[in-house]
Amino acid sequence: MTVTSIASVTLVRFSPHDGDHVRTAELVECYREVFADTPWHEWLKCPQCQQYWGKKDGGVLVTTKFRHCGTPLVDFWSREQVVSDLYQEITPSASCWLALHASSVVGFCFGYAISVTDLEKKLAIRFSHKLAEDGGGVVAYQDEVGVLATFRGHKIAKAMFANRLEDFLADGLRTGIVRTREFPEPSQTFLWYTEKLGYKILARYPGDDGRVILGREFKGLKELLASS
Ligand SMILES: CC(C)(COP(=O)(O)OP(=O)(O)OC[C@H]1O[C@@H](n2cnc3c(N)ncnc32)[C@H](O)[C@@H]1OP(=O)(O)O)[C@@H](O)C(=O)NCCC(=O)NCCS
Ligand SMILES: [Zn+2]
Repeated sequence: MTVTSIASVTLVRFSPHDGDHVRTAELVECYREVFADTPWHEWLKCPQCQQYWGKKDGGVLVTTKFRHCGTPLVDFWSREQVVSDLYQEITPSASCWLALHASSVVGFCFGYAISVTDLEKKLAIRFSHKLAEDGGGVVAYQDEVGVLATFRGHKIAKAMFANRLEDFLADGLRTGIVRTREFPEPSQTFLWYTEKLGYKILARYPGDDGRVILGREFKGLKELLASS
């Protein structure tokens, strides 16, 4: 299935706390599918050695009968794990937008206000010394964004990002922080945020695993989005 225009996609607010279990289940499937695909390839893993494979490796896995280290592979992101993460991350005060196509979930974008101190603890890295303005000690954590591969390239993520930004601005938040990946395969968000939206690298994780923390003040971002 491919989408021909963003006109066939609608954006709706969502919270798992609202009790729509069917939509929550659809979001879980969408999340698992997004990360099973490029560039993350987090589809199946070996419970023994933790090696993992993406959807693109399906052909190879058939030859090994979906086994490694003498055991069957398991889901990289189990449904239980994703449900639990969604409940924890999409708090009632979070901003969460879903993209729907023919009423199924094809994309998601969520984030929330958090104190800089708590976010440093959560992400296990220091970046506050790099913030030009600390927004009174509270920032907008741009937690996740994802769109199913067949729906990418139609500005769906951009539309959800813009709605989430409106929510952040309405809540008086002034700085956005995101964790993403610079290498080995840069996440599209890394390229988009640094090359087009003016985000700066605030911190790199030790051990050269490619994960980085990006940030920028929101001043001027809405205008930049509208003009890009
Ligand atoms: C990242 C993702 C959500 C983007 O979804 P999408 O709907 O295809 O994105 P959009 O069409 O809205 O494009 C968003 C912007 O990315 C920009 N972009 C795309 N590829 C880019 C590149 N190689 N370099 C710089 N910017 C790029 C686009 O130019 C666009 O901005 P513009 O319209 O102002 O030009 C999607 O690729 C995805 O789900 N990836 C896997 C999940 C993921 O990596 N999430 C982030 C975790 S950190
Ligand atoms: Zn193994």
